[in-house]
Amino acid sequence: MVTVRHPESMRAWSGARRAEGKRVGFVPTMGYLHEGHTSLVRIAKEMGCEAVAASIFVNPTQFGPGEDYEKYPRNEERDLAMLSAAGVGAVFLPGAKEMYPEGHQTHVEVTGVSQGLCGAIRPGHFRGVATVVAKLLLIARPHVAVFGEKDYQQLAVIRAMVRDLGLDVEIAGAPIVREPDGLAMSSRNKYLEGEDRRAALCLYNGLCAARDLYETGVRVPEKLVNVARAKILSEPRAKLEYVEARDPETLSPSLSASGRMTILVAARVGPARLIDNITLEGKAA
Ligand code: PAJ
Repeated sequence: MVTVRHPESMRAWSGARRAEGKRVGFVPTMGYLHEGHTSLVRIAKEMGCEAVAASIFVNPTQFGPGEDYEKYPRNEERDLAMLSAAGVGAVFLPGAKEMYPEGHQTHVEVTGVSQGLCGAIRPGHFRGVATVVAKLLLIARPHVAVFGEKDYQQLAVIRAMVRDLGLDVEIAGAPIVREPDGLAMSSRNKYLEGEDRRAALCLYNGLCAARDLYETGVRVPEKLVNVARAKILSEPRAKLEYVEARDPETLSPSLSASGRMTILVAARVGPARLIDNITLEGKAA
């Protein structure tokens, strides 16, 4: 596995793999990796990518003032060992100066799907994500880029951006990887200590309560959202930001007659801001 720090070296690596006729996969991350991240590498390989690159870059433009940019956990050595074990061929580790040199003045803004949910609570966040992902895709030039459904709205924003800009890359979504008790894996779980770790499970428990009610045949979104909300509100250590039912494809609040919907939640537990979601589908009982 090679590690490269300059965009030109990353572009050259990818170009060489393409010249060999290989299908190139790409997994962008902010590091402090866990099995959720390595699952994306595995999925890229399962999708026929003979060469997979990953990036580790804690992107300053997607953090708001007062957010955890400075404190975001970092462990480069461990990350590289995990990526190497996962079979990654190249890791792109740019510094902020490589990604945003002096005079950088171009940003990518996706409107519709960036609004509401996390977009309402973190103004400018998805502009930072779309900008860095556009730049990373243009540098790494993959055939396929894999993103987790854990960040469901982010995935929708990236799909919209790639479609609207006509970028020549396939975007693949990957299922949420969870801890044995159900907590969605996240680099920010490192912030959860003691009682906060137990309390953090209320997001998943809320989603499971909505799923259980859905499985009894209930399709009224307010009822499903209400049971999830009640579960989260019953945990005094959690500060709920939102629970909403949205269309799984468009993220529109108006749902299709099929009964398919995604319930998305965000809450703060201690110092950690956590998100999770579940897609409910299937015939009414
Ligand atoms: P990061 O939070 O490091 O996540 C990198 C990728 O891993 C994202 O596609 C995310 O959805 C996925 N991921 C994280 N936890 C997961 C889990 N438990 N199961 C499955 N996939 C999971 O998301 C970002 O970084 C950044 O916003 C980035 C896209 C790299 C742009 O800076």
